[in-house]
Amino acid sequence: MSTSLSVITESPCSLDADAVVVGYHSGADGPEPAPGARDVDAAFSGGLAQALSLLGAAGTAEEVHTVASLGAIKAPVVIAVGLGPAPSGGGATTADTLSRAAGAALRARGDRARVALALPADSAEQAEAVALGALLGDYSFDRYRTGGETAAAERLLLVSSAGGTERAAKRAETLAVSVNLARDLVNTPPVDLVPGDFAGIAEEVAREAEGLEIETLDEQALADGGYGGIIGVGQGSANPPRLVRLSYSHPEATTSIAFVGKGITFDSGGLSLKPASAMDWMKSDMGGAAAVLAAMRAIAGLRPAVNVVAYLALAENMPSGTAQRPSDVLTMYGGTTVEVLNTDAEGRLVMADAIVRAHEDDPDLIVDVATLTGAQLVALGTRVFGVMAGDDETREEVVTAATAAGEASWPMPLPEDLRKGLDSSVADIANVAGERWGGMLTAGLFLKEFVADGMRWAHLDIAGPSFNRGQEFGYTPKGGTGAATRTLVRIAEAQAEN
Ligand code: BES
Ligand code: MN
Ligand code: ZN
Repeated sequence: MSTSLSVITESPCSLDADAVVVGYHSGADGPEPAPGARDVDAAFSGGLAQALSLLGAAGTAEEVHTVASLGAIKAPVVIAVGLGPAPSGGGATTADTLSRAAGAALRARGDRARVALALPADSAEQAEAVALGALLGDYSFDRYRTGGETAAAERLLLVSSAGGTERAAKRAETLAVSVNLARDLVNTPPVDLVPGDFAGIAEEVAREAEGLEIETLDEQALADGGYGGIIGVGQGSANPPRLVRLSYSHPEATTSIAFVGKGITFDSGGLSLKPASAMDWMKSDMGGAAAVLAAMRAIAGLRPAVNVVAYLALAENMPSGTAQRPSDVLTMYGGTTVEVLNTDAEGRLVMADAIVRAHEDDPDLIVDVATLTGAQLVALGTRVFGVMAGDDETREEVVTAATAAGEASWPMPLPEDLRKGLDSSVADIANVAGERWGGMLTAGLFLKEFVADGMRWAHLDIAGPSFNRGQEFGYTPKGGTGAATRTLVRIAEAQAEN
């Protein structure tokens, strides 16, 4: 069921809702009501902050307390969420803080179906952040539970009298629906999302969204076309690979982008089999392709003035009698030969084919997104993705876009001296280096080999952020997170504004 979101200007005190969400800051003398909460606090005769204090609330970010209103306001409960210290000098609470707070509040709503959001929303930007965080925090994946579905909130009432909030709310909805699509794809068990299934979903998305064209290459077309990387990785599986191409165009566009997403629907490692503890979450190895498809859906809805093509490189990496062997040599799309020394370094093989193919669209910028290396997690942890690029300016543009989109990323180098580790004794290049240090960077350098001189290119390694194996936090659930979706949308918008 989908959630209806409307913007209202009435006081939250008189609203017919099941809960009112308010924010409070961590003040020197305890919790202080944030803008939006003051009416409610007044209705409690200033007692809300006191009640929160008694409950041990400090106002730290994402702390949540539910307080019975006992008639002080019309809604039966207040969900109070911490926003951290009040911004200094009368500044505004940041979009990211608001999204995380709204997400945490929605996760605590229980089965309250109509929720009013009275968080700070004095600008369209803040209103969008509140709405987006609420819609993302209310996500649940229960397609496989027999106990019945956890219903999404029926109605969200966003309290704001700022200008432009209608448009902000629409934008938040478009982004949230898309990010939640990426999460669903990642969460779906791999038996139900083999490459053909993923391509089928992409076709459905293209059919439903206006202005998306789609074309799918099946295993025969891939073999005929010389896509050695995708075929090599997919050949061990009973479920054949696919390469999906989506395109979006705008009549006033002056630039074009290509997105490429890694879509390994399950990564067993192949014959270089992963240990069980590293394999049990490898349904998430299509998080890059999920983010790319989700971003295309959002872009079709938001219609920035830019042309975008997207490639989903879909394969299942399995061990079998037909699987590629360590030491096999593949001829990639475009003719480069690769010695496969480790079949678990499969992502770069499917990505290389798709990156070479993307050049044929003559884009001004290629951005690839992949759950590419465990080394990304070692370097940056589970919440920050790595950004590498062919030049400093492109890398900075992508990091800036991620920050603007509310996603954590960090620039990483592509040191040329690591390239020689990929020298092969029989082919043009090997798929792994003898040395494991700097594994995220080596993988980036491998991909760089398939980017033409003069082509602007950035590479996002989202291995950690795409899947949350820990507790939920802010608006991030367990499992698929939809990481990089909003960054890709922002990159497209930034190109359109250029
Ligand atoms: N899909 C994995 C990377 C990964 C690890 C993603 C953990 C998400 C979480 C990738 O295909 C892989 O197996 N990479 C190897 C490369 C190595 C063999 C050079 C790795 O990182 O161990
Ligand atoms: Mn692998
Ligand atoms: Zn993989």
